[in-house]
Amino acid sequence: MSARTIAIFNQKGGVGKTTTAMNLSGYCAMLGKPTLLIDFDSQFNATVGLGVRHGRDETIYHALLGDKQPHDVVRRTYLAGLDIVPASSDLAGALIEMVEVSEREYLLRDFVESVRDQYEYIFIDLGPSLNLLTINGLLAADEVIIPVQCEYYSLEGIAQVLETLDLIRENLKHPIKIAGALLTMYDKREKLSREIAREIRRRFPYHVYDIEIPRSVALAEAPSFQKPIMLYAPQSSGALAYEELAKELIGETTPDPRISSFYKRAYPEELEFDAKKVSEGEGFPTEVEEDLVFPEPEIEIPPPMMLVIHEHEEEGETENTFPARF
Ligand SMILES: Nc1ncnc2c1ncn2[C@@H]1O[C@H](COP(=O)(O)OP(=O)(O)O)[C@@H](O)[C@H]1O
Ligand SMILES: [Mg+2]
Repeated sequence: MSARTIAIFNQKGGVGKTTTAMNLSGYCAMLGKPTLLIDFDSQFNATVGLGVRHGRDETIYHALLGDKQPHDVVRRTYLAGLDIVPASSDLAGALIEMVEVSEREYLLRDFVESVRDQYEYIFIDLGPSLNLLTINGLLAADEVIIPVQCEYYSLEGIAQVLETLDLIRENLKHPIKIAGALLTMYDKREKLSREIAREIRRRFPYHVYDIEIPRSVALAEAPSFQKPIMLYAPQSSGALAYEELAKELIGETTPDPRISSFYKRAYPEELEFDAKKVSEGEGFPTEVEEDLVFPEPEIEIPPPMMLVIHEHEEEGETENTFPARF
């Protein structure tokens, strides 16, 4: 196993990078893929948003510039299958310290290489600037997802991101790919939102995910409850959109991951199965099919949370007057 490593990047702040990093990594884990989220922003919103407790010397900073080993800094989250390397404000100081270090652009890449065989997906949540930390993040990743808020200045933002990626490819000889630009905080009832989405799709035709992430109160609220969206409001429009995105990222030919992970667990080495056949309902020996009990998703949703969800639904999350609330 060698993880597909994806940086979540846009030089603009407040476009939905951290929201995407937390929730996309959460759904990848829920879909059966062992996933690691590296919080690489000195504002450490993803660490806080996922309610991760850590000691004072157990963050990504200490792995890069201290003497901490990966197992000292990787933390489990409440979501089975999702680990995180937390960040803290120390990371801001790293920028100055790194200047003294040789091969300073590659510190995060070395860290990723050391844990890469333990995961299928590694996401790196980057901060909003372009500095040595960002360069480390991009050099550690094979691909980038670019969250783009549907607002007037976002076209400029994408152009800037594409320029940065060109620099990484040309000057640092790192062939980073664009997994896709992701339209976030999309409000289909707002004309401007629709027009900007259309314009972005027109200008960057092969780079934009079909799925849009809607503006969703639940997505904004979940971090204050220190939960990813699937533990807070799994039926909200934002949750469904991130789940869909995770499925798209993982690939259409992947069979129901609960089947595949169950199958792999039960029959680790024995039979290589054909993913496509399984997704078409073939490929399982009959005995296995009879025994196959789908495990419940390994998360607990306490009843009060469900109430919150219903409230959202009743308010008509997609019908609401969000601009007034944001
Ligand atoms: N789809 C969405 N709907 C509503 N609010 C959102 C959505 N995505 C992000 N937000 C909110 O917008 C703010 C900025 O998002 P964030 O993910 O922190 O952006 P970034 O990491 O790019 O700075 C946060 O308060 C977040 O909760
Ligand atoms: Mg952020």
